[in-house]
Amino acid sequence: MDLGLRGKKAIVTGATRGIGRAIVELLASEGVDIGFCARSEDEVAETQKALAAKGVNVVGGAVNVRDGDAYKAWLESTATALDGCDIFVAGVSAGGGMDSEKNWWKNFEVDVMHTVRGCETLMEQLKKSGQGSIVIISSTNAIETFAAPMAYNAMKAALITYSKQLSQFVGKQNVRVNSVCPGPIYFEGGAWEMIKGTNQKFFDSTMRAIPSGRMGTPEEVARIVAFIASPAASLITGSNIVADNGFTKGVRF
Ligand SMILES: NC(=O)c1ccc[n+]([C@@H]2O[C@H](COP(=O)([O-])OP(=O)(O)OC[C@H]3O[C@@H](n4cnc5c(N)ncnc54)[C@H](OP(=O)(O)O)[C@@H]3O)[C@@H](O)[C@H]2O)c1
Repeated sequence: MDLGLRGKKAIVTGATRGIGRAIVELLASEGVDIGFCARSEDEVAETQKALAAKGVNVVGGAVNVRDGDAYKAWLESTATALDGCDIFVAGVSAGGGMDSEKNWWKNFEVDVMHTVRGCETLMEQLKKSGQGSIVIISSTNAIETFAAPMAYNAMKAALITYSKQLSQFVGKQNVRVNSVCPGPIYFEGGAWEMIKGTNQKFFDSTMRAIPSGRMGTPEEVARIVAFIASPAASLITGSNIVADNGFTKGVRF
């Protein structure tokens, strides 16, 4: 199946490792020009080199999305350098944690506000595309009780509501908006590798909750995001796609 991605331009936040990295690798392989960011300059340079080897235009930037002004300036300059933007993937999260009120501000500023600022800053370009597509990375932590009450889970839930309502607002301009909820995703250097090393009991109980006994991989999530982002998914907007290998137990109609 041709996803219709060739020649499109995508901006992806948080793309030097894990799910974001797998997304930009896959989109670049499909012939998509890529703008991406992360904080580490070295990792941005390494990712830029790997993606450029696929023969597409690549604009990498070292920026902390929590710094609203710097982030917006980066989005604008990246869309200009790519000469447009058809796809925006909001991938950065401040991650879990419940040690203090600090976490609520961090997850609000990073998870929620970087997504909102990204959608607002790139919206004119996405409308101009005629096939604009936004994919917001949420989490199964938003849709079922997980671990403990924490900002990460609640802010990821806010993103699903924002995604749905934005989709209604910009549908007329042919911009689709969807969210994706991955379940536990394992990769070297990721959160679950860290949890395996520091809290084996919790890691094992999470594994037991997955019917096949296997966590997902970043590449498995990337294939879903690439499809949702592509013109091939033209009927899908305002949806929240759960990609969790059976980890969640609720019945959703
Ligand atoms: N892994 C899972 O099991 C899982 C499950 C459900 C949902 N998710 C969601 O999937 C997304 C990706 O998670 P992941 O676990 O694959 O990767 P990750 O370890 O969270 O890192 C992803 C990327 O984000 C960048 N990043 C982090 N903070 C940033 C900031 N403030 N500004 C700019 N870039 C930043 C990182 O590079 P730098 O550190 O260099 O900035 C890295 O490139 C997140 O939204 C996460 O909540 C993950």
